[in-house]
Amino acid sequence: MMRTRSIALGAVAALAVLCGLASCTHKEEEVYGTPDYPTWKRTTDTLLNYPIPGHMNRLRIPRMNAKGFTVVPTREGNKLHWDFPEDTVIVKEVYATTTPAPGEAPVQLTIMVKDPADPRSQGGWLWITRDLPNGKETVFMGNFCVTCHENANEPHPYFDKNPNSEFRDYVYFVPTDIQAKALGSGGAASGSAAPADSGSSQSEYGESY
Ligand code: HEC
Repeated sequence: MMRTRSIALGAVAALAVLCGLASCTHKEEEVYGTPDYPTWKRTTDTLLNYPIPGHMNRLRIPRMNAKGFTVVPTREGNKLHWDFPEDTVIVKEVYATTTPAPGEAPVQLTIMVKDPADPRSQGGWLWITRDLPNGKETVFMGNFCVTCHENANEPHPYFDKNPNSEFRDYVYFVPTDIQAKALGSGGAASGSAAPADSGSSQSEYGESY
């Protein structure tokens, strides 16, 4: 009797140790899309419901943490050069369809985290996906994400199309207000105007790429 009981207790203790370890490991796992991310400012008001390769035919909503919005692009002539500060996090929600119901949860988050010191970074960013609802975040080790996002640094079919081939730090939608401010601060003599985000019609997008 005693013996059985102590074995049982031993098993419980072993389980407790295992669980303790498991929860420890879980705690140490970093989650980049922190729970407050839905309150972050959007990087664009454009309705991203047009099909793009790599993100499928789904509604997307990108948001960036406050750190990212402190970015100050440097100016070379009429060109801006973007270098987002370390710990910038951009979370893009991806919904199952182009027209989610009100309150419908996204099916996936794709996440960029500026962390050039991390050996897993590519182009200075960690490229991450979080599958929902299980919440598991995976850092992409292949070059799938960065290869396509390199196109953000040269003329491309999205946003303002980056006609001046500005280095945009792999980000397709750089915040328009920061862009306008940086260009405006150079003085009227330069004669440059900030490209507008709003002018482009939805049908321009999603043609081909
Ligand atoms: C084939 C092209 C392509 C691939 C591959 C791709 N993306 Fe994107 N991504 C885009 C485009 C275009 C946008 C602009 C926003 C939109 O239309 O959804 C974007 C936007 C984003 C944004 C919002 C910031 C921005 O650039 O405006 C994040 C975050 C993001 N992608 C993460 C990822 C991650 C993580 C991967 C890999 C798992 C990935 N992307 C793979 C094309 C791509």
